[in-house]
Amino acid sequence: MRNKITIIGAGNVGATAAHWAATRRLGDIVLLDVVEGVPQGKALDLLQSGPVDGFSGTIIGSNDYADSAGSDVVIITAGLARKPGMSRDDLLAKNVAIVKGCAEQAAKYSPECVLIVVTNPIDAMVYTAFKVSGFPRNRVVGMAGVLDSARYRTFLAAELQVAPRDVNAMVMGIHGDKMLPLIRLANVSGVPVTDLISAERLAEIVKRTQHGGAEIVNHLKTGSAFYTPGLAAVEMAEAILTDSKRVLPCAAYLEGEFGFAGCFLGVPVVLGAGGVERILEFQLTAEEKTAMGDSEQAVRTQMAATGL
Ligand code: NAI
Ligand code: 2OP
Repeated sequence: MRNKITIIGAGNVGATAAHWAATRRLGDIVLLDVVEGVPQGKALDLLQSGPVDGFSGTIIGSNDYADSAGSDVVIITAGLARKPGMSRDDLLAKNVAIVKGCAEQAAKYSPECVLIVVTNPIDAMVYTAFKVSGFPRNRVVGMAGVLDSARYRTFLAAELQVAPRDVNAMVMGIHGDKMLPLIRLANVSGVPVTDLISAERLAEIVKRTQHGGAEIVNHLKTGSAFYTPGLAAVEMAEAILTDSKRVLPCAAYLEGEFGFAGCFLGVPVVLGAGGVERILEFQLTAEEKTAMGDSEQAVRTQMAATGL
């Protein structure tokens, strides 16, 4: 039997995630949205790529959660996206109501699924989905670290003129300006970047990474990034559906790990059939611990604003 993936929100990120999920042969796909016609049209268009691409699963567009029943993974992308001048926090009030509804319906129709939340502000939205779904912490996870780390790796690779895939680097903490791109552990096939790039340039790359989302919003003017966000969510879904135990930076609910409890923060996790199967805890330096503490404070402010 094929896996079933539901993507809620058929906008830029959702439709792009459906595209990546099809090209990666993840299984049958349901694309769901409140707007009548949009998920149906995009799903049909994508389905018709099957004969050319080789994809042979089903792709359904729907406005009815009954079509999502029994999904193995549900990706929530529904909500408003950033426009120039808007922070992720500006989206909170509207998106908390949307994500509540989506998580309730996902939990009702797919009680065994793993929920991957993408909607911003992500660290508060994944908390909202966790509270509303009643799922255990291993089955609710937020996407941000894969995207932020991909941006960081891209910038490091460009600086060094090396293949991006050979750059190993991770961003932890909040998905926001206070995110923590780790310099100490970043390397190119094992060679520390601190031996290859000056401290001044590394500081500039870290800053560009922290503002990577805004850089794209300022170009687009009408919305935010979607190609890499869609792929990042699918990368996580694939790790879960194939039980591959990938180690990816994701927003996970912490219960004491890294000294934090009762909130979602970006940390390295092992993703497999059980969702977040483990959090890989390691010793942070005093400076990194302070940066994670700043992230935690910002996340707690967002959490309070959800009213949950
Ligand atoms: P978009 O505006 O293109 O698409 C959003 C879609 O959600 C629309 O089609 C809309 O009709 C739908 N929608 C609204 N309310 C809904 C509901 N109650 N049920 C089902 N669908 C509903 O926005 P885009 O670019 O796809 O972004 C989606 C969200 O993802 C935004 O909040 C954005 O900020 C966030 N995002 C998060 C990233 C991350 O790293 N976590 C990266 C990129 C985007
Ligand atoms: C991004 O980082 C807007 O959160 C979104 O591109």
